[in-house]
Amino acid sequence: MRAYQVQTADGFEQIARVTVPEPECGPDDVRIRLTAASLNYRDFGVADGGYYRNNACPVIPLSDGAGVIVEVGAHVSQWQVGQRVSPIFVRDWIDGPPSDAALRTCLGGGVDGVLAEFGVFPQSSVVAVPDAFTDVQAATLPCAGVTAWHALVVSGNLQAGQRVLLLGTGGVSIFALQIAKAMGARVVVTSSSDEKLAQVTSMGADAVVNYRTHPDWHKEVMRLTDGVGVDHVVEVGGPGTLERSLKCTRVGGHVHLIGLLDSPTARVGPMAAVMNLITVRGIYVGSREMHKQLLRFLDEKNISPLIDRRFGFDQAIDAYRYLASGQHMGKVVIEF
Ligand SMILES: NC(=O)c1ccc[n+]([C@@H]2O[C@H](COP(=O)([O-])OP(=O)(O)OC[C@H]3O[C@@H](n4cnc5c(N)ncnc54)[C@H](OP(=O)(O)O)[C@@H]3O)[C@@H](O)[C@H]2O)c1
Repeated sequence: MRAYQVQTADGFEQIARVTVPEPECGPDDVRIRLTAASLNYRDFGVADGGYYRNNACPVIPLSDGAGVIVEVGAHVSQWQVGQRVSPIFVRDWIDGPPSDAALRTCLGGGVDGVLAEFGVFPQSSVVAVPDAFTDVQAATLPCAGVTAWHALVVSGNLQAGQRVLLLGTGGVSIFALQIAKAMGARVVVTSSSDEKLAQVTSMGADAVVNYRTHPDWHKEVMRLTDGVGVDHVVEVGGPGTLERSLKCTRVGGHVHLIGLLDSPTARVGPMAAVMNLITVRGIYVGSREMHKQLLRFLDEKNISPLIDRRFGFDQAIDAYRYLASGQHMGKVVIEF
């Protein structure tokens, strides 16, 4: 089958086009003909060999995909050939808290991912794609969508009327915007681009701040929240933004630690977290159960993922380049 492989951990430009044998379907597995995939920022880390806990090499990259079941193993009862499914991000994290061993089974990192014509996954590690979703739409959800859901809803217990701060307009932030607005929250979004801020306003953002023209954007967020601060920050920036995020979080608020987009080695002063009793919690994608909850929620609320640009299977490296350019808003996808 046609596939891509991270073989040298020297960055995405070195990802190889390969022809490899089709994976065999064990008795508890399903074999999927993959039809769509999407990229995430973490896929750069995998290509660089620097992705936490999950650096198998060689490995088929990309965690997020969808497709149709073409074979089921002898012990498989819950799935049938022809069903449309999407593999979950952490192959062995089904429900409840994850084990360290489970967290070593992230697709397109610890184990083979979805940038290939076929994939074999345990029957427990796929979810059904609702009829309302195309394969491309379903393929945007396993990492960024589930992470936003885990942070705001499962961990943060987001309530209507609460205030949410989102940093930038990448995959996680745009899903967080869609989820937060559908739950009746008030949302502030930051971006480096006024055009993107205009677009998130049209999607329902209540207030926006350009973090380039307002380097002290946390002060703007305080002003926009009547000097109170936000209840939740979906913190994708990391050390480069964390201190400012803490400074515009309300007393007793939540900072969901998710990403490291900005200055990963910067120093962070924790004083605001201490003095304002802020809950700072790491979030790592989520379980199969969270993935199912997200699918149900998006289906019920009639929410479609925001797809910025589509690439063909043969243009996969162009898709990486485009994501690296930061021009996108929402998700970058590959159609096979
Ligand atoms: N913990 C987890 O489970 C988990 C899951 C998914 C992602 N992540 C991490 O979360 C981060 C975002 O991932 P993603 O897939 O959503 O990335 P993405 O789609 O590539 O988003 C990148 C966007 O982030 C914004 N950005 C960059 N630097 C920023 C800064 N200093 N302040 C505010 N916004 C900034 C930019 O938005 P503008 O163009 O609008 O400025 C940029 O376009 C990455 O570090 C990723 O590894 C973690």
